[in-house]
Amino acid sequence: MQHHESTPLIGVTRGEGAWLYGVHGERYLDTISSWWVNLFGHANPRINFAVKSQLDLIEHAMLAGFTHKGVVELSERLSDLTNNVLGHVFYASDGASAVEIALKMSFHYWKNVGKPNKQEFICLKGGYHGETIGALSVTDVPIFKSAYAELIKGTHVVSSPDFRSAAQNSHIAVSGKDLNSKLASHQAHIETPQQVAERAAAEVEELLKERSEFISAIILEPLVQCAGGMAMHHPVYLARIRELCDMYSVHLIADEIAVGCGRTGTFFAMQSAKCWPDFMCLSKGISGGYLPLSLVMTKDSIYRAFYDAQITKAFLHSHSYTGNPLACSAALATLDIFRDDQVLVSNLTLSSKISKALSPLKEDARVKHFRNQGMIWAFDAVIEDSTLGGSFARRFFAKALECELLVRPIGNTVYLMPPYILSDTDVSLMAERLQIVFDEVMV
Ligand SMILES: Cc1ncc(COP(=O)(O)O)c(C=O)c1O
Repeated sequence: MQHHESTPLIGVTRGEGAWLYGVHGERYLDTISSWWVNLFGHANPRINFAVKSQLDLIEHAMLAGFTHKGVVELSERLSDLTNNVLGHVFYASDGASAVEIALKMSFHYWKNVGKPNKQEFICLKGGYHGETIGALSVTDVPIFKSAYAELIKGTHVVSSPDFRSAAQNSHIAVSGKDLNSKLASHQAHIETPQQVAERAAAEVEELLKERSEFISAIILEPLVQCAGGMAMHHPVYLARIRELCDMYSVHLIADEIAVGCGRTGTFFAMQSAKCWPDFMCLSKGISGGYLPLSLVMTKDSIYRAFYDAQITKAFLHSHSYTGNPLACSAALATLDIFRDDQVLVSNLTLSSKISKALSPLKEDARVKHFRNQGMIWAFDAVIEDSTLGGSFARRFFAKALECELLVRPIGNTVYLMPPYILSDTDVSLMAERLQIVFDEVMV
């Protein structure tokens, strides 16, 4: 709150396409999709129409003992997108709740099948899964977690497969137990992203060998750990973790809240590894960034473990606005746009245009680890004192606003995660102004 004495809040009155308009008539290009939710622009006519039409039918009805057409259709269409592997969908309203649901369901599943000792979770270093108490327990971003340490259950934190850890070190820091002998051969050279991924997966295997009897699930953000600083990894990590989960009877929870809905190139990020998780969490972009909606998809074998006459075996978890009909109508309109406009294909063209426009920044000597995955770009500003990341981020944000850009770095990591509807003019304006802001902040 105190920072707002020097950077006042921006009052927003309306939005159109990728632009937000402020109370003084000023405008901002929303290069981060309003916290990664908005896929097809603000006030999108097709989503507006769907929500307005739904409003005249039913705005909300509880999803316990009742159901509605929108939620049924949405479940079926999402299930189809996984070739019906994840054929069951459990609804809530925000991302953190979806994570809570996946954790609870995993734990409860093992109890129902006679393995009540499986109570522990594994998360990745730098992983972010939301800020309710359960979700925080599998989040590893100290700024959000440290203050609540006493409230939070311990979790196994394994190394991130972040490929920057190879680029930075010519020898490898081993954070797992007794991996030295296996890793000796890697120590003379800088690893490839695939090798970083394999090393990180090997650490998970060591842990599973020792404790799988007590471990319920591993949770991860496939391909890009977003809030932890847009840390990207090779898809072989996901495939390897899937294999390990099968070998050691541990669930894989894919948190696709930020990376799902086409953000990384495929509709679900897990498709890059050609395998499916046991639980997949979606939120943010699924409603096109319109209304709070989240969901957890899972397999039939897991659903069946809860299908019982005894109420204690059932999965009892509810939120008042679970599966809200207006949110579902926005989600269905969002899926229509994906299908009708062949968005995954057109994003390939848009993504290469953006990469081209950003190429001067990529070559800039003050930039390191320029990286891109689908519709996410990130780079790290080379600043001498890494403890100044917070003030760098604030200065960058303020300077960007002066240049009509909404950009919100994470520490010294500048990233773009724009909506999928940027025009050519938007792309050049975004790249040119980003360079101007960067030059000014780096002085
Ligand atoms: C990967 C991931 N998981 C969970 C969440 C939490 O979602 P929400 O903010 O809707 O609770 C976020 C939010 O940024 C996220 O990026």
